[in-house]
Amino acid sequence: MLFRKYILAVLTLITSVMARTITTNTIDRGAISLGLGDTIIEDGVYWSIIDNLATAFAGNVDVGSGSGLYISGLNPLLSMSVTLLSGSLTNDGIISLNAVQSLLAPTYSLVGISFTNNGEMYLGADGSFGSPNIQITAPIWNNNGLLVFYQKTRSSASIELGTSGLDIKNNGQICFFNELYTQRTNIVGTGCITLDENSSIFLSNTLLNIDTNQVFYLADSASSIQVHAISFSKTYNVAGFGNGNKIGLDVTLVNLPPLLNGYTYDTKTGILTLRGGGVLSPMNFNIGLGYNPSLFKIVTDDNTGIIRIPAGAVTYSGPPPNSVPSVCQPCKKLPPAPGTSATEFTTTATSTNSDGFTCTEVDDIIVSTDKSNSWFTSTSTITAGCISNPTNTITST
Ligand SMILES: *[C@@H]1O[C@H](CO)[C@@H](O)[C@H](O)[C@H]1NC(C)=O
Repeated sequence: MLFRKYILAVLTLITSVMARTITTNTIDRGAISLGLGDTIIEDGVYWSIIDNLATAFAGNVDVGSGSGLYISGLNPLLSMSVTLLSGSLTNDGIISLNAVQSLLAPTYSLVGISFTNNGEMYLGADGSFGSPNIQITAPIWNNNGLLVFYQKTRSSASIELGTSGLDIKNNGQICFFNELYTQRTNIVGTGCITLDENSSIFLSNTLLNIDTNQVFYLADSASSIQVHAISFSKTYNVAGFGNGNKIGLDVTLVNLPPLLNGYTYDTKTGILTLRGGGVLSPMNFNIGLGYNPSLFKIVTDDNTGIIRIPAGAVTYSGPPPNSVPSVCQPCKKLPPAPGTSATEFTTTATSTNSDGFTCTEVDDIIVSTDKSNSWFTSTSTITAGCISNPTNTITST
């Protein structure tokens, strides 16, 4: 008896650490349990998880090619959390974490041992109340696809990518909408980081290496870059500078013309140089050729979350005079997730009763949410009835 109980316990343990493999399109609404094993979504199918308060992945997460993992919080009063503890996250399809409809700030804490995105990945929040906690901090970090961080309203929260002091490798496209990203790692690779719609990047640890092939693209007139000034010169690759967006340092520019200029632009090399004075070296930004030197101006970057440095930035009032490198791919906002809107449909069930009659029941099914935002399914029968089956009648004669 005791032995059987023991066997049962072991079996239960084995089942709970077994992989959860999604092989057909699946929609789960309300609370679900993920277990302790890996999560595998086979090629070409999706798993849409809706209004599950805490989605905690304990093992590896593997989203196949042409597949989707959608985790959505539709309940406005639900503070959604998605966490990856110790596994590897590999995405060859679409991953979309969407709490844009919820007023409460979500937590997306994807830690794990490695992160590889070859597909499209979206992390969305509302941002108007509280601070969304959004981080992908695996020590092995590779983006080869599209990685989008979206907030409806900019908050003072900052996106964290990679493990402090280690590398993030971006050979793909990273996009920010209404976000602040604070760099704390080396940035390696030849990809593009686009600051779209009111987004900023703060390069906070510039003693680390930031690949001069990485492009920082200021796509919006309200976007900005702020760079920590240090005692040796560095060059950053910037596209899209113009229309009033800003490039600055975390110190006030020392501007005492004609002796010292807070900035200079070299029309032959396309390098914009900002000077912070003292022991700080000038910082160089490769903005490209064609700028009109009379359209630059020293300003203050007031973007939310950025350290406000009086007269610490430079702006350009004209449009960017050169084209954006082709490595910068279009940014996209969050895709719709399957099963997130209320639906109504009919089902038809056919059976044969004990008298050999064919019975047909047509049901109306409604999947929707109630007043407390909980999902329910209601079934009402439209028609039901049995008729004698002519084929059966003939064979039995
Ligand atoms: C940028 O975001 C801040 C904070 O949400 C907001 O106050 C500001 O108006 C936004 N700027 C633009 C140009 O949208």
